[in-house]
Amino acid sequence: MSRAHKYDVIVVGAGGAGLMAARYAAQNPKVSVAVISKLYPTRSHTGAAQGGVGAALGNVSEDYPEWHAFDTIKGGDYLTDQDVAEMFAYDVIESVIELEHMGLPFSRTPEGKIAQRKFGGHTREFGKSAVERACYAADRTGHMILQTLYQQSIKDNVTFFNEFHVLDILLIGGECRGVIAYELATGEIHTFQAKSTIVASGGNGRMFKITSNAHALTGDLQSVVYRRGIPIEDPEFYQFHPTGLYKIGVLLTEGARGEGGILRNKDGERFMERYAPTIKDLAPRDMVSRSMYLEIREGRGAGPDSDYILLDLTHIDAHIIEERLPDITEFARIYLGVDPIKEPVPIQPTAHYAMGGIPTTIDTEVIMDGQNTIIPGLYAAGEVACASLHGANRLGTNSLGDLIVFGRRAGRFASKYAESAEFADIPKDAQDFTKNLLDKALNGSGTEKVATIRKELQASMMDNASVFRTEEFLTKQIKIVKELQNRYKQIGVEDKGKQYNTELMEAIELGFLIDNAEQLVYAAENRKESRGAHSHENHKERDDANWLKHTLVYKEEKGVRIDYKPVTLGKYEPKPRVY
Ligand code: FUM
Repeated sequence: MSRAHKYDVIVVGAGGAGLMAARYAAQNPKVSVAVISKLYPTRSHTGAAQGGVGAALGNVSEDYPEWHAFDTIKGGDYLTDQDVAEMFAYDVIESVIELEHMGLPFSRTPEGKIAQRKFGGHTREFGKSAVERACYAADRTGHMILQTLYQQSIKDNVTFFNEFHVLDILLIGGECRGVIAYELATGEIHTFQAKSTIVASGGNGRMFKITSNAHALTGDLQSVVYRRGIPIEDPEFYQFHPTGLYKIGVLLTEGARGEGGILRNKDGERFMERYAPTIKDLAPRDMVSRSMYLEIREGRGAGPDSDYILLDLTHIDAHIIEERLPDITEFARIYLGVDPIKEPVPIQPTAHYAMGGIPTTIDTEVIMDGQNTIIPGLYAAGEVACASLHGANRLGTNSLGDLIVFGRRAGRFASKYAESAEFADIPKDAQDFTKNLLDKALNGSGTEKVATIRKELQASMMDNASVFRTEEFLTKQIKIVKELQNRYKQIGVEDKGKQYNTELMEAIELGFLIDNAEQLVYAAENRKESRGAHSHENHKERDDANWLKHTLVYKEEKGVRIDYKPVTLGKYEPKPRVY
């Protein structure tokens, strides 16, 4: 295979956002499109998304996009850019209908409409009660989206480069001109030249010990662009999903609570009644995860070590559980030996989703600073990106919505740009950065083990920078990250082979993960307030006077630099969040 490629549009990542972007770009007959993915596309993490995609279709009860936009802004603790939330709430309706027309097998109401259920933070009439807004395909919604979009991309003749890891981005004269990738099967380095590059490579949850994220979610592109001077926006806002399987972190969908599931402490008490009297177990995730930890801290956790909470579905009809929640029922049976139909399931918060990421405009163009300076030719969509939709805390179901809405926009805008842009000359040394990166990992003589450093990173991030944070622990974690960065320079890789050298790739991914941890802890230490998923015990209140602003974290030669970007406000005045 040639190692130099030229496409008008390249897409990095083959999850929901990447495939949607590729499809839309491919519908423009004037441009050629390729997708580069480190996994075989149908193994992408979108496939693990369970409970649904939120859209105000009103199929089960009255609903409007205005309510959805408001819930998203309030759920995001007012750090959400309000123009983005409003566009999203309308656009996601069209996108869901489009998925239906592509053949996605949604679950159905008795009249044959797309079925919808309740989900955390989604309400009717601006907070009065929970509303059925999540459009679902049992508890396999993400899986169905991924399969549907992949089939459509094949039909649209999109070219795929599977098991190619993107390790560098070509920024020439301030414009993006493509990427450099490593081919896992051969160990060869490839140059992908492009007029438009769309980054849609997913999240970074593997920096934490307990996570719902698949092995591959190592924040690769969040690090690749950061090393090239592009900032990361709002990385301090990391979401813990309340219902991960105890000690394992595997996701049990919020849809279980949408179907009537209840969280109980060791006394059997439905404790969310105390924390969120109106919508109880369906409060937003940041609130539910915090409440669970408080119960545990105050000695009301269940189990021999009083360190978990119980998800109780035993009062729900068995046939509803089997029909609407088949996968999570199996997960509980297989991994914990617990049958949710007969007994409550031990659960704990699990690292799930990055609200922050590569900063973009509402049109998915990557920006460089707080003045919205665009990097021509570079776009981002999905979890890797931050269009400021989710603010400080994402609502459940808005991730799948984000993928389809922003994937579609990225495909459209990137292909439009490519139509009139020219290919540039690529410098002869374009691969040098990547060669050097691989060479250091492959030929280093150090004795530090990748697995050991990764384990220490994950455990310490969990202890010091997860649901509750303090000055002391964040400062400690900054020190730990610096030490791990130094030790990382001494890693040794035993497999020196070229074909399928997964040990080498894990070493490179660890470097990416450490960068992601650096972004998160510096930003968290810097933000002296509590907002959404950033709960700071030394600064317990939200402080709109000083902190109603987005963080931008830059990697510079002297170290980490922090800057800010204003929040786009609108008709919803920031108010205290009560549910
Ligand atoms: O609970 C879930 O099914 C997860 C959905 C989401 O993160 O949006």
